[in-house]
Amino acid sequence: MKRIYNDINLASRNSFGVSESARSVVEFDSAEDLREIFGAERPDKWYVLGAGNNTLFTQYYDGVIFTPTCSSLTILSDDAEGVDVRVEAAYDWDTLVAWSVGEGLWGIENLSAIPSSVGAAPVQNIGAYGAEVKDVITTVEYFDVNTLEVVRLSNKECHFAYRESIFKQELRGRAIILAVEMHLSRLPRPNLGYGDVVNEVEARGGATLENIREAICAIRGRKLPDPKVLGNAGSFFKNPIVERSVAERLLSEYPDMPSYAVPNDDNHVKLAAGWLIDKAGLKGYRDGRVGVHENQALVLVNYGGATGGEVIALAKYVSQCVNNKFGVEISPEVNLL
Ligand code: EPU
Repeated sequence: MKRIYNDINLASRNSFGVSESARSVVEFDSAEDLREIFGAERPDKWYVLGAGNNTLFTQYYDGVIFTPTCSSLTILSDDAEGVDVRVEAAYDWDTLVAWSVGEGLWGIENLSAIPSSVGAAPVQNIGAYGAEVKDVITTVEYFDVNTLEVVRLSNKECHFAYRESIFKQELRGRAIILAVEMHLSRLPRPNLGYGDVVNEVEARGGATLENIREAICAIRGRKLPDPKVLGNAGSFFKNPIVERSVAERLLSEYPDMPSYAVPNDDNHVKLAAGWLIDKAGLKGYRDGRVGVHENQALVLVNYGGATGGEVIALAKYVSQCVNNKFGVEISPEVNLL
């Protein structure tokens, strides 16, 4: 069943809390709903909004916003090694992580407390603390607005990379994700290599699923503002991937600069945008109703009542300062509409 809302304010549907409106919002719960709509008259302009944690509305959206409401969880197979699970798009991501930890299943515990819906998770291949959702996804099922068919893509076909997937590239404007299938393991496989994680887990008595989840929630809670309290969309920028020579030049000037290897690519290095912004002197910077978060410079915040335009103006200023100081371009991770 679908529900249609015309001329609707989006403030409660985006974690930045900006008060822009849209021509219409359609909540749908099946491929049938989408087939009816796209089969009759294809909207001239449309966008899929999950829980709204990674989208910034910068102006009135003169188009149709599709939001899934289907949220079932089905166990597809279950044996001594692990479980295959199918989860529909509107299922809350962290509710899934809590369920998985409660069931003794490994694979997504490091992705605790990420504000997201399950359907949005593969789009930008959500990742944190050394894990990415691509590590557990087996299949993504989507509605193809051109053929009106439901299509299933294997993990490989999704072309996952750092904050990237086919859904942000070739299938942008064509796919509406309906469900994600994942394989979760019963065999313990703690992934504690990132930053403070190992110490936080040891302080809680060792590498159990519960301790890892608690540790991750604690680390995130210290650095990342709760969008229910302070409007934000997590990391506003992606960590930039630069030529090795650029990283070497910067490392000779700033030996303490964090840098990370890029898997299967020796010619490029990933830098920490949060560090660059911080070093550019902008951590805690505030301009009216918007600012750079005081504990994590990668996060831009709405102190209340800001428009999307104000956030974008701040983002431009931040990337300009970083470029002036380091000669490195940083680009938004957040979808801008
Ligand atoms: N840093 C600073 N100052 C800051 C922020 C970071 O010096 O204000 C330094 C840190 O000390 C560290 C490095 O930069 O040496 C990296 O910082 P952090 O571990 O906090 O991670 P991040 O690179 O800033 C990424 C993800 C986060 C994810 C964390 C943990 C991106 C764009 N962001 O942030 O994801 O939680 O790693 O894995 O890749 C998100 O995508 O919304 C998000 C929050």
